[in-house]
Amino acid sequence: MSGARSPSYGAGKPGRGARFIEWVDERFPLSDLMREHVTEYYAAKNFNWWYVFGVLALVTLIIQLLTGIFLTMNYKPSADDAFASVEYIMREVEWGWLIRYMHSTGASMFFVVVYLHMFRGMMYGSYKAPRELLWVVGMLIYLALMAEAFMGYLLPWGQMSYWGAQVIVSLFGAVPVVGDALMEWIRGDYFISDITLNRFFALHVIAVPLALILLVVVHILALHTTGSLNPDGIEIKERKDANGVPLDGVAFHPYHTSKDLIAIIAFAIVFSAIVFFAPEMGGLFLEPPNFEPANMLKTPEHIAPVWYFTPFYAILRSVPSKGWGAFLMLAAIVLLFLLPWLDRCKVKSIRYRGFSFKLALGVFVVSFIALGYLGLMPATGLYVTLARLFTITYFAFFLLMPIYTAREKTRPVPERVVYHHD
Ligand code: HEM
Repeated sequence: MSGARSPSYGAGKPGRGARFIEWVDERFPLSDLMREHVTEYYAAKNFNWWYVFGVLALVTLIIQLLTGIFLTMNYKPSADDAFASVEYIMREVEWGWLIRYMHSTGASMFFVVVYLHMFRGMMYGSYKAPRELLWVVGMLIYLALMAEAFMGYLLPWGQMSYWGAQVIVSLFGAVPVVGDALMEWIRGDYFISDITLNRFFALHVIAVPLALILLVVVHILALHTTGSLNPDGIEIKERKDANGVPLDGVAFHPYHTSKDLIAIIAFAIVFSAIVFFAPEMGGLFLEPPNFEPANMLKTPEHIAPVWYFTPFYAILRSVPSKGWGAFLMLAAIVLLFLLPWLDRCKVKSIRYRGFSFKLALGVFVVSFIALGYLGLMPATGLYVTLARLFTITYFAFFLLMPIYTAREKTRPVPERVVYHHD
């Protein structure tokens, strides 16, 4: 029955659908692209759940773009109207509250997903040759994401928007010689003002999203050039059958897409639970001072950026000098870019790596989370001492890496991927 209906396999004339695809293919390489990137893109059969975060990052990007469009329809980018227009969206616009909470929750969830995605890369050595460029493009995405979130946070023009932007922009003042001029150039004024709000709006709504989309396309193209790695860290392209299909690979569609769909559903459940029941997340996703309009004459008692920036904020505050603090904060990010060249171990996956790397990665994770917590706390007493300690361990992970990875005692890597039914 189905054979008779199928246009490509039946002996009769191709159906209307197939003829339409043929018509498109003669003018645009649609089928070729689908084959190359979807139905004949082979990824290892042993992917585990750590491999769903790339797709979830894509889903989050789409949520942010779509909700952002609808927010922009009702938001007013001016110092006089911005705060009130957000209140208007929340109270008057139909479904406005939902759109706004989806966008604010989406921002935090984007970072949750991207941090887990990056951690997966560190565990399985996805940044190592030949995927260095893929990693570097990923890091550029991360930078663009930080810029996007920072500028978006100014837009509601609440107290924390204003004073958070004040603190971050003033960091540029630490740049030698041109610092002051640079701050003025970024703000477009002598202080954070209506002009700053307007330009941040332009950058948040068009320039950075455009850069993000382009970078994600480059990211996926780079991924499809090298092929995905897997939890065993084995290059599946090295063992192919007579048809050139990797022995340990399965087609991305339908095998990985069906698994990704389950992850997307689980993500949608968690996402909805937050949006409907805890959109402020106890002040982590939406901070209490931001429910007050910006007041340039009243500094909030305690200024802290949103949670996803606090590890770097804690590093910044752990040094008494603003210049050195800003330098260390920058270095903390630059070192992530350099991972492919700092890690000297030939074995990629943590499954077969030595104790020293496992310990170091554990120390890194604890340091990052601890710094994240400390960045939310006031910079006093024990909090500062602990922030200094974890800043040291954070940097030790990277700076000592060429030493401890060169001497690592690894285990033999199997020839073929190991498949676990989990
Ligand atoms: C908007 C943000 C991002 C999107 C949409 C995205 C998308 C993806 C997708 C769809 C994959 C393939 C599926 C997977 O392996 O999970 C992937 C792989 C990868 N991504 Fe990302 N990514 C993003 C950010 C990043 C960042 C910030 C980094 C690191 C700095 C990164 C590094 C990597 C690496 C190394 C791989 C290959 C993993 C492997 O094959 O083992 N990505 N990305």
